[in-house]
Amino acid sequence: MTLPDNQVLVIFGASGDLTKRKLLPALFDLYVRKALPERFLILGVARTVFSDAEFRALQKESLLALRQGHQPNEQELERFLDQLYYLGFDSDKAGEYHLLREKIEELRQAIGLPDQIVFYLATPPQKYTLIIEALRKDGMNKAVDGGWRRVVVEKPFGSDLASAQELNGCLCRIFQENEIYRIDHFLGKETVQNILVLRFSNEIFESLWNRNYIDAIEIRAFETLGVEGRGKYYEGAGALRDMIQNHLMQLMGFVAMEVPPSFEAELMRDEVAKVFRSLRPIVAEEVIRAQYAEGRSGEVVLPAYREEKEVAARSCTETYVAMRFFIDNWRWGGVPFYFYTGKRLDRKLSEIVIYFKNVPYRLFRGICPGSSCNKLVLRIDAPESISLKFGLKMPGSYFGVEQVSMDFGYDSLCTAYIADAYERLLLDVMQGDSTLYTRTDTLEMSWRFIDPLLREWQLHPAEGLCFYPAGSEGPKDRWEDLFQ
Ligand code: BG6
Repeated sequence: MTLPDNQVLVIFGASGDLTKRKLLPALFDLYVRKALPERFLILGVARTVFSDAEFRALQKESLLALRQGHQPNEQELERFLDQLYYLGFDSDKAGEYHLLREKIEELRQAIGLPDQIVFYLATPPQKYTLIIEALRKDGMNKAVDGGWRRVVVEKPFGSDLASAQELNGCLCRIFQENEIYRIDHFLGKETVQNILVLRFSNEIFESLWNRNYIDAIEIRAFETLGVEGRGKYYEGAGALRDMIQNHLMQLMGFVAMEVPPSFEAELMRDEVAKVFRSLRPIVAEEVIRAQYAEGRSGEVVLPAYREEKEVAARSCTETYVAMRFFIDNWRWGGVPFYFYTGKRLDRKLSEIVIYFKNVPYRLFRGICPGSSCNKLVLRIDAPESISLKFGLKMPGSYFGVEQVSMDFGYDSLCTAYIADAYERLLLDVMQGDSTLYTRTDTLEMSWRFIDPLLREWQLHPAEGLCFYPAGSEGPKDRWEDLFQ
């Protein structure tokens, strides 16, 4: 494996949850795998004042807490933490950015690093524009001596089309497109990348992967968790913005795209963009919007969404969305696609289900009445798997068909190390590979797709909102009525 160039990683929002739960653990895993640059430093910045030693101690504590039962090697962890530095400064104040510039300069000189810097924005989204503008004012958006800059932006990237365009406008004025990395952690998942490999390296699937053989495609992301203390963020987001505009649409892009001429970032992203460009506008009547009410999980009573912390008592924010839509192109014309996502459901499950068409004439009796026995199920979350379902005669004297399953579990690849999504994506940005990051045009098209719904729901917040008990399957009657 080629190591990334020597560089500096600056994390804005370093005292926050994302840094603690995702970024530092992923960087530590890269360190253990010896995948980090030979010379490297991480500079955490946030308003709280810490010394380097205090910051290291805090990160060490949370890393150890996260790894309970699987304690890392103490010396390795200490050596990793030695690369960690901290600067307490107020990133809201453009006038203070010289402190950041000077600190980076001082560390670069001391460690002998080139002018190669990744800025990671792990702050609340309201701060993005401010930080980017301030970096420009202080001249930090431009590298000298053949160096480079990269900026990573976390989701949510805007809250509707207009705000996403505004943020893009600001980013693209200050950084080049190839310097901008909009992160979608779903694309960092091994199983999501495997959609491409499954499709484009197996003729048996790809030749059937079109409207002639496929009846419908479902993309589902179900969670058992509720909003988990993120009520304030979720009130302004809802399931449509939180899951569909980004994660589920990106999955759909991978499932529906054409094969690119080669596996280069721009060519790959061109193909996803073509799919998004072919989306038929959503029909509001084909969308179900729901919110969890009080329910149970076994003996435990689960509170309603409206009772969660920092959620309005009469909130109309959706915690569940199901929708049908179409892609108007030659491969997919007439094939319904479905998104299903929700919080506080009865199971945690992320999967893509490809329903194949039925045989033209049913010769045998069996349990797949009216529908086809053939289904391909790609499970994205743990336990990651791929299952192919087909009909088979059951042992006995008559020709009765039942559906059986041929299953592949990723855990059978016992020697393979499955990297965390952030680990993969951080390594990609350090290597300057943007294949798994969202491009400006695709991002804006995904907002354009859902924007009419957002506007409609804003105008009539309570209209059509239904409720489901927490811990249940969701508003099953509604989707059975609408989609079947
Ligand atoms: C995040 C959403 O982007 O993805 C969360 O903001 C959601 O609400 C999470 O829970 C799901 O990701 P994963 O990887 O846990 O399936």
